[in-house]
Amino acid sequence: MTETDHEGGDPACWGHLHDTEIEAPSDTTLAELMRNLADAVIVCDADGRITFWNSAATRIFGWNEDQALGESLDIIIPERLRKRHWDGYYGTMRTGLTSYGDRLLEVPALNSKGETFSIAFTVSLLRIEGSDRLTGIAAVIRDDTARRAELKELRAAARGATQA
Ligand code: HEM
Repeated sequence: MTETDHEGGDPACWGHLHDTEIEAPSDTTLAELMRNLADAVIVCDADGRITFWNSAATRIFGWNEDQALGESLDIIIPERLRKRHWDGYYGTMRTGLTSYGDRLLEVPALNSKGETFSIAFTVSLLRIEGSDRLTGIAAVIRDDTARRAELKELRAAARGATQA
């Protein structure tokens, strides 16, 4: 397929695109975006200690940044899931591979009051530039409780409808 077929128009003129100066957001702006994003962003180092915790993480999990930084991820993982999480976490640190880069991991989580709720997240692997070695892992997480409750209701309604 040619470029023209694909776009349904003239082939892109890259020379022209380079004429227009575009300015990428600065690292400071991007860091600010991460801090204020509606989704929780949590970054952990190779040992699984929390090194970044944004304001949505505080809203969702209850712990503030000062309380969370330096802690183990265990503060948000229900006890029965910790072994599976850490087996997966260290496996990913070792191999540099994850199945949850573009697929949601849906699990129960713990908040600071010890209550359980549902979350859904993907992970991003952090590397030193130009190296294969991972320095840590980031997760972008949302509270999935309302969506799961809705799904449960819909399933119950669908069951009711087939039984009627
Ligand atoms: C409530 C919080 C969490 C729970 C309950 C949880 C639970 C789990 C479970 C059950 C697995 C195994 C998945 C499988 O075998 O397919 C897993 C794997 C993993 N988790 Fe967590 N996790 C949590 C938070 C996090 C966070 C915040 C990060 C990253 C900062 C993270 C990083 C990973 C990684 C990298 C894996 C391995 C993925 C793979 O095998 O591809 N987890 N977790």
